[in-house]
Amino acid sequence: MSKKGKLWSGRFSESPSDLMEKFSQSVSFDKRLYRHDIAGSIAHAEMLASREIITSAEFRKIRDALKEILGEIEAGRFLWSVEQEDVHMNIESALIEKIGDAGKKLHTGRSRNDQISTDMRLYLMEETDLICQLITAVQVELTRRASQESGTIMPGWTHMQPAQPVTFGHHLLAWNEMLDRDFRRFRDCHERTNESPLGSAALAGTGYPVDREMTASQLGFGKVMDNSLDAVSDRDFVIEFASCSAILMIHLSRIAEELVLWSMPSLEYIDIGENFCTGSSIMPQKKNPDAAELIRGKSGRATGNLVTLLMIMKAQPLAYNRDNQEDKEPIFDQVDTVKLCLEVLLSMLPGIAVLPENMAKAASVGNQTATDLADYLVDRQIPFRDAYQIVGRIVAYTIWNDKHLHEIPLKKLREFSEKIESDVFDIITLDGSLSRRNHVGGTAPAQVRKAARKAAKKLKDRSD
Ligand code: ARG
Repeated sequence: MSKKGKLWSGRFSESPSDLMEKFSQSVSFDKRLYRHDIAGSIAHAEMLASREIITSAEFRKIRDALKEILGEIEAGRFLWSVEQEDVHMNIESALIEKIGDAGKKLHTGRSRNDQISTDMRLYLMEETDLICQLITAVQVELTRRASQESGTIMPGWTHMQPAQPVTFGHHLLAWNEMLDRDFRRFRDCHERTNESPLGSAALAGTGYPVDREMTASQLGFGKVMDNSLDAVSDRDFVIEFASCSAILMIHLSRIAEELVLWSMPSLEYIDIGENFCTGSSIMPQKKNPDAAELIRGKSGRATGNLVTLLMIMKAQPLAYNRDNQEDKEPIFDQVDTVKLCLEVLLSMLPGIAVLPENMAKAASVGNQTATDLADYLVDRQIPFRDAYQIVGRIVAYTIWNDKHLHEIPLKKLREFSEKIESDVFDIITLDGSLSRRNHVGGTAPAQVRKAARKAAKKLKDRSD
C-alpha cells in the first residue's frame, strides 16, 4: 500500500517525512505480536456481530480472512510494510485489501490503544507460562540432585570466609527456594495481567453497545478492566513482568557466580561440562566457564530493561501516550534473555560433576566447627559469651600451632575448660556438626533428604 494509503491519512494533506516514518514505525519489532493481535481482532469482530453492529456474514469474512493472514505470516509470505507503521495496521490493511468493506468495519468501537494493551497482556501471559515451565524444570533438576548430594559435605561461607560446614544438597535446595519464590512472583504477576482492556477504545470507552465480558472470556481473560483510562494507559503489568524477570536473573547471576567460583582450579569443587565452557584464543590450557559468566552478565541487561520500562512510564499523564511504544524492545529482550538463560542453566546442570573430596577437604580447614564447640560448652552450663571466649582462645592456639580443632588432644582442650570431655569429638567433627542441625531448614543430611522429598512433591503437585 502506498503512503497515501495510510489508514489514518484522512485529515492529513501531506504524508510524513521518510525520517518520521522510520522514527515512528514499530512493525519491525511488534510484528512478534501478530498471533495475539489476530486473536483479539477475531474476538472483537465476533462480539460486534453478536451485538448486531456488523452482520454475521461480515464477521465470517473477517474471521476467515484473518486466519488466512495468520497462515501467510506463519509461512513467511506476508509482506510487512514500514509504511503501515505497526502490527495492527499491517494486518488491518491486508484484511481490507482481501475483503474490502467488511474489513473496513473491523475497527468499529475499537482503538489501537485498547488493542495494543490487549495484545501485550496476551503475549506476556503466554510467555509467563513458558517461563514458569522452565523454572519448574530447573527446580526439578535441583531437587533431584539435592537428594543425591544430601550427605556431600562442603564449606559454608559468610563473607566468603569458611563459616560452618553444610551439605551440597542443602546449598542446592537454597537455590531451589530462590527459584520457587520467582515462580510464585510470576504467577502473581500473571493474575494481575489477566484482565481485558478491550472495549476501552481510545480512552473513554465507546458509544457502541459492546459486550466486554464476551471478548474477555473469548480471549481467556479472567475479568474486564474496570476503568477505560487506566486500561489503555498503564503498563504496570509490563513493568511487573520485567521486575519478576530481573529478580529471577539476579538469582541466576548468584547461582552462576557460585559455579564460576567453585570451578576455579584453586577450589575445584565442581567440574563444569566442556560443552558449556570455551577455550582461550591464546592460552592453550584454558577452559573458561563462559556460559555461567554470560548468565551473570545478562542479569545486568535484565536490570537495565526494568529501569528503562520504569522510566518510560514515569510522569505519563492519562491516558495513552505514544511513549508506550518504547516498551516493546526492552520487554521482548527481557523475555528472550530470561528464557535463554533458563534453558542454558537447565542444559548445563546435569553435566556438572561434583568433586566431593575437594569439598570435604575445604570444609575441614578454618575451624568451621568452632561454633559447635561453644554450643557444647553451653550444654555444660557455661554461658554462651564465656563459651565463645574459651573457644576463641582454643582457635588462637590452633592457629599458632598450625592444627585443626579436631586434632587437639583432649588433655590440651581441658586446659582451656575442664568441662570438655571425650564426647567432644562427636561434636567437633564435620559429621557431628552437620547431624546436629537436624531441624526444619537445617543442613543435617537426614533433614536435607526430607526437604528434597518435600520440594520434589511440591513440584509434582504443581505440574499435576
Ligand atoms: N505501536 C503503538 C504502541 O505500541 C500502538 C498504539 C498506537 N496508538 C496510537 N494512538 N498511535 O503503543
